[in-house]
Amino acid sequence: MKFKSTAIAHPNIAFVKYWGKKDENLRIPLNNSISMNLGNLWTKTTVEFNDFDEDVVTINKNVAEGTAKERVIKHLDRFRNLSGIELKAKVVSENNFPMSSGIASSASGFAALTMSCANALKLNLSEKELSILARLGSGSACRSIPNGFTEWLTGTCNDDSYAVSLAPAEHFEIYDLIIIVKKEKKEISSTTGMQKFNPYFYARLAEVNENLNFVRKGIIERNLKTLGTYAEKDCISMHTTMMNSGLFYWEPETLKIMKEVWNLRKNGIECYFTIDAGPNVHILCLKDNKAEIREKIGELNFEILESKPGGKTMVIEESLF
Ligand code: DP6
Repeated sequence: MKFKSTAIAHPNIAFVKYWGKKDENLRIPLNNSISMNLGNLWTKTTVEFNDFDEDVVTINKNVAEGTAKERVIKHLDRFRNLSGIELKAKVVSENNFPMSSGIASSASGFAALTMSCANALKLNLSEKELSILARLGSGSACRSIPNGFTEWLTGTCNDDSYAVSLAPAEHFEIYDLIIIVKKEKKEISSTTGMQKFNPYFYARLAEVNENLNFVRKGIIERNLKTLGTYAEKDCISMHTTMMNSGLFYWEPETLKIMKEVWNLRKNGIECYFTIDAGPNVHILCLKDNKAEIREKIGELNFEILESKPGGKTMVIEESLF
């Protein structure tokens, strides 16, 4: 019997952010979050459990070491425990977006790893169970399991903290233009950053439900104004919280692009920004305004990645080894 499988997953961009956990080990978040899978970007992962001497993990053609490798091995252990096998594994993972592009690969990485392990070991898990397992690898990964626009329900324990699809990818054709300000890996990871608790976390919790309600409504009603207004508000709320922990992820260029987004809007070109734990700016817009926004931002000399909504994490026939 061959325990081998390959899966594809998309990273996601959060419109309402996850920042802070009520349980560190289980990765149970302080609040619900909502995101969109990025269909043009993907991670493919092949895993094989076999008579190997040790676990070997290769990411983008480099053999992983240190914490990156440990995190993957911990995830493989979860699957070994579930299926009752002790076999070591070979894991090969590839992204179609450069690791140095500043786009977090942990969400698509752990979503693809979860799906490939579950299928290789024939575990027959539901989407909810897959999302729960992906969450244990990296919180935001649970949102990459279901299709399109997804909401991670906070929950209270391991079994009820997972993501569901609010609408499929085809529901709303919006674009994420990812403006690359800096390519280097961020100095402080999200995992470490969100451990730096301060009183602003409470203030954020007081406003996050309103942001969730309007972003959800904006998605369902295909209304970019509602979605974008509250996504922008929530991004600023998260970054204010970060700054109060001494974490300044923005570069001067980040603010320059934020102001350019406000400027474009003043001139009737509808677009909104959101920013993760890094300096790159995601600009959300509709198809009709895309070219003009690309041109204006292009004048500022930034590299731009582009994506529309993406589907769920899936098993594929192709194999990476
Ligand atoms: C700023 O999912 O990377 O991108 O659960 O510790 O692995 P861990 O954190 P991670 O955090 C993502 C934080 C964020 C916001 C978001 O995607 O919601």
